[in-house]
Amino acid sequence: MSKASLVVLISGGGSNLQALIDAIENKELDAEIKAVISNKAAAYGIERAKQANIDIHVIDHTQYPDRQSFDQAMIEVIDPLQPDLVILAGFMRILSDMFIDHYRHRLINIHPSLLPKYKGLNTHQLAIDNRDKIHGASVHYVSRELDSGPIVIQTEVPVLASDNAETLASRVLIEEHKIYPIAIKMHIEDRLTFDNDQLKLDNKALTRPILWKNNNLIY
Ligand code: GRF
Repeated sequence: MSKASLVVLISGGGSNLQALIDAIENKELDAEIKAVISNKAAAYGIERAKQANIDIHVIDHTQYPDRQSFDQAMIEVIDPLQPDLVILAGFMRILSDMFIDHYRHRLINIHPSLLPKYKGLNTHQLAIDNRDKIHGASVHYVSRELDSGPIVIQTEVPVLASDNAETLASRVLIEEHKIYPIAIKMHIEDRLTFDNDQLKLDNKALTRPILWKNNNLIY
């Protein structure tokens, strides 16, 4: 089987991108990142891509009159690369329905909450404000509604009495770096498939997300 090809979209630090670069380097993932696209010229993730010799495209959304034309510009970079999967890794733009439909079932995101809880921003602060005992992160395929779509895997992270949003975020991030490569590996090995919009793992409907807990996968 030939190497899977990936395109990664970022806006910021790119630590999840780094986790993928590392997983490829360690041969955990049989894949190649064909390009990194950033909508921000100053994103630190660009440095990470440079270090790994990955092609970088800065597509600045402020240079486009509307969401649709920005998304179209990304499609023009992505499609010639024929990626098996388009990966959102801290990409902070809402995508148009046109873009989402174009990459249906091969567009994946990681979100720092136990979805469907806390869609959108400030998830860590919300978990603290609501006195949640358990917080976490979710990897999901992207559907039209923000931070929705079939969830592949979630990780749980305890909220400590001493936590603020930053300390909690940094512990969640450590777990994100573990679950994102796991989900991507399942996708590129064709273990994750769709029957219409029903997500399947190994040909069986995935009726609840896989849980990553204490360094184990719970199905
Ligand atoms: C992560 O918390 C991710 O879940 C969210 O944005 C953050 C990106 O971090 N979507 P990084 O850029 O990968 O370091």
